[in-house]
Amino acid sequence: MDGKISVVIVDDSRETVENIRTLLRFESTVEVSGAAFDGKEAIRLCEKLKPDIVLMDVNMPEMDGLTATQIISMQQPETGVIIMSVQGEKEYLKKAMVAGAREYIVKPFSSEELIQTILRTYELQNRRKSIGKVQDQHISTKIFTIFSTKGGVGKTTIASNLAVAMARTTKKRVALIDLDLQFGDVAVMLNLSIKNTIYDLVKDLKDMDSDIVEDYLVTHFSGVSVLPAPAKPEYSEFIDARHIEKILNLLIGNYHYIIIDAAASFNETVLTALDMSEKILCVSTLDLPTIKNMKVGLDLMDSLKYPREKIHIVLNKASEQIGVKFKEFEQTIGHPVWAYIPEDSQTVITSANKGLPFVMTRSETKVARAIYGISDALCERRAEQQKEKQKRKWI
Ligand SMILES: Nc1ncnc2c1ncn2[C@@H]1O[C@H](COP(=O)(O)OP(=O)(O)O)[C@@H](O)[C@H]1O
Ligand SMILES: [Mg+2]
Repeated sequence: MDGKISVVIVDDSRETVENIRTLLRFESTVEVSGAAFDGKEAIRLCEKLKPDIVLMDVNMPEMDGLTATQIISMQQPETGVIIMSVQGEKEYLKKAMVAGAREYIVKPFSSEELIQTILRTYELQNRRKSIGKVQDQHISTKIFTIFSTKGGVGKTTIASNLAVAMARTTKKRVALIDLDLQFGDVAVMLNLSIKNTIYDLVKDLKDMDSDIVEDYLVTHFSGVSVLPAPAKPEYSEFIDARHIEKILNLLIGNYHYIIIDAAASFNETVLTALDMSEKILCVSTLDLPTIKNMKVGLDLMDSLKYPREKIHIVLNKASEQIGVKFKEFEQTIGHPVWAYIPEDSQTVITSANKGLPFVMTRSETKVARAIYGISDALCERRAEQQKEKQKRKWI
């Protein structure tokens, strides 16, 4: 419609419809292309006009706004529905989102508020369309879990920096899931302000599809999408293996890489993540209690019949001076070390305290380079770069 955003207004009060028309009258980017006064009429009108945006009231005769939203967003995913309601509760907002609404505005609103909401929703729709195109190409997803049988070895440090490194170097879609359900601190490490956590997602999981699930992830400024751990340890009791399986299946196809920061335990949720992973990065440090735990963990993975090439040993805070030597370590655990990450408290702890990943702020350090090395190996970047070089040679 000559470059303007087309809007359909749906409200059983004719007065409200006229008021909204007036609010939008002087906005040059928006054009009201029609109005309906109940849900059924709205569906018919949207089929005919295919608007960019629908402003939808909730309580209406014949068919309510949430049901109409569900049908419109299924029949016409290109149309973005904005729910207008006097109720501002969070629970209500979720129902609207699950029904397929993209935004929510509380009556009464100013013309400024309304226009901002329309523009934001329109932009979001456009972004979805481009993501949708990527999805059509069938993204093949790789899941990597960062695991250890002991806490404090550097799992969260590695998981969060690795996710950021991957997003930066590959420019692909990366998700980071905090599966340390009781004491997860990925959100703190990345200084994220949290809207939803995995607990909220689990509560709404019954009606979830792979499109809505993305709304529960927070985007870090590096581009990584993060699913934070529950806000309180006791919420972890409500999350079981089936939930994790469903969440991962919803994310598969949406992201190229999924990094999981696992809890230091062999509970059912972690086991599900390990089962579904392409590779497991087992993180150890060189102190005896950790090494002993590592051995027990690896034996258990053996008995679970995980192929050896699925498991990569990562030695963190690696320095040979104290006690155990690398060779002795490999002999004890019966696996070769796949990657070493040096100890660098200054860089690692400062970055954690500031909530800034050191792979961004201190990318020249050895510890950051080690993470980039791991990222390149997992994303097979070297092989890809070689292929590119070969191609250029032939051209
Ligand atoms: N390579 C490293 N050099 C120095 N300190 C590190 C390194 N990796 C992790 N740490 C520190 O070790 C502590 C535990 O790290 P964390 O990532 O929270 O471990 P986990 O998630 O396994 O419990 C943190 O204080 C972190 O800053
Ligand atoms: Mg941790």
